[in-house]
Amino acid sequence: MPKKEEINIMEKLVSLAKRRGFIFPSSEIYGGLASSYDYGPLGIELKNNVKKIWWRDMVQQRKDVFGLDAAILMHPKTWEASGHLKSFSDPLVDCRKCKKRFRADHILHVQGIKPDLGTMHEKPEALKVCPECGGELTKIRDFNLMFKTFLGPVEDSASIAYLRPETAQGIFVNYKNVKDSMRAKLPFGIAQIGKSFRNEITPGNFIFRTREFEQMELEYFVNPKEANKQYKYWLEQRFNWYIESLGIEKSNLRLRPHEKDELAHYATACSDIEYKFPFTDWDELEGISNRQDYDLKQHSTVSGEELNYRDEDGKVFIPYVIEPSAGVDRTVLTILVDAYSEISGGRTETTKSTKDLEVVMKFHKDVAPIKIAILPLVKKEKLQKVAAELHQSLKQNWTTMYDETASVGRRYRRQDEIGTPYCVTIDFETIEKDNSVTVRDRDTMMQERVKIEELVEYFGEKL
Ligand code: GAP
Repeated sequence: MPKKEEINIMEKLVSLAKRRGFIFPSSEIYGGLASSYDYGPLGIELKNNVKKIWWRDMVQQRKDVFGLDAAILMHPKTWEASGHLKSFSDPLVDCRKCKKRFRADHILHVQGIKPDLGTMHEKPEALKVCPECGGELTKIRDFNLMFKTFLGPVEDSASIAYLRPETAQGIFVNYKNVKDSMRAKLPFGIAQIGKSFRNEITPGNFIFRTREFEQMELEYFVNPKEANKQYKYWLEQRFNWYIESLGIEKSNLRLRPHEKDELAHYATACSDIEYKFPFTDWDELEGISNRQDYDLKQHSTVSGEELNYRDEDGKVFIPYVIEPSAGVDRTVLTILVDAYSEISGGRTETTKSTKDLEVVMKFHKDVAPIKIAILPLVKKEKLQKVAAELHQSLKQNWTTMYDETASVGRRYRRQDEIGTPYCVTIDFETIEKDNSVTVRDRDTMMQERVKIEELVEYFGEKL
């Protein structure tokens, strides 16, 4: 069970996210929509940085991975072939008294009972009573998580379509297109970032589980003989990515191999990269699976299209697939939780007492939504003019913020709260004496004077 102060940190984080423009409740003026969120001006910078870094490391810096952006709406046969129509469901129970709805496996999990599909349907003692009001629970029903819609004006069975529940299937149906157009040789991967939709029964914990979310998925096609080796390779790559590219603290991450009875129907092996979230302790951040040839085989059977591969020796086979599948929003949440730190006061003039706490978001520089803040010491035209020119010049290379309201101490504190690595202060010495500015480092709080004409080079090295 998470500790009380850890839950408290989530409350503080959700409040900071709204107050400082990271994440807002969706349609708030209408009272909000449960578990739907909007990314504000800083949130979208942070989220875009996550996607950019993933794309850089998974596509642009590799020779063997190709990018893709497939449509969200796909032919309904896709979901028949992938198995989603039949088995993409969660076991659901309702309370007859309070009318609340629960996932049966979650109820068992909280009681320390390992959820098992067979025993769940026999309705063991643990699934008789509502965990909230003690009322009687209904029998388990399987609830399909796909959002259904209709294409065109007629709402009949012939026009049913689904919002994709994973980006992966857009990749599998394009396997042949990418292989042929890129003349790709095994092993090679296809990567995609995009929205997915699941009608989750119990969304929650801020942006951890929502009904609309974004995924970053790679399907890496390999010779079946190489599958185990490639699976291990990707486990290591992906685990290190969070530490090296996003700056996540290693001790808050772990790799958890799935037990046999946890594996999805298509997988022979799967491991989750888990993060120590404040609300659940360890939980999934990304899954890495060996999906074998399940998907290509299924799509080949249902579509009638050959989805195989001919190697140099003329041997024809269906490749196996190793799939690292990550959530964008869950990664953003991980970054926010990991970066959140409270430091006893005295860092800025706004908290002279060490009893006061100052919040610093210690984002990795590549992830930070704003890289440099430009702060004229006071609102005087001469200082504002230089500051505005400097802002214009630094903006060409980095995301910047101009702030001239309130005392400089208060402004430093505001920038710490949004995790800006550097603040540049323009003071009277800048214009009267040395044409230099003060650069303040968020983490060390060290300040140094740097000549204006050297700033671009200075930040080029730092950022
Ligand atoms: N193609 C495999 C696949 O979709 P998954 O474990 O269902 O596997 C992969 O999803 C990742 O997508 C998860 O590790 C998580 O980061 C993210 N994800 C899944 N469902 C989500 C939801 N409802 N809200 C936010 N992120 C979600």
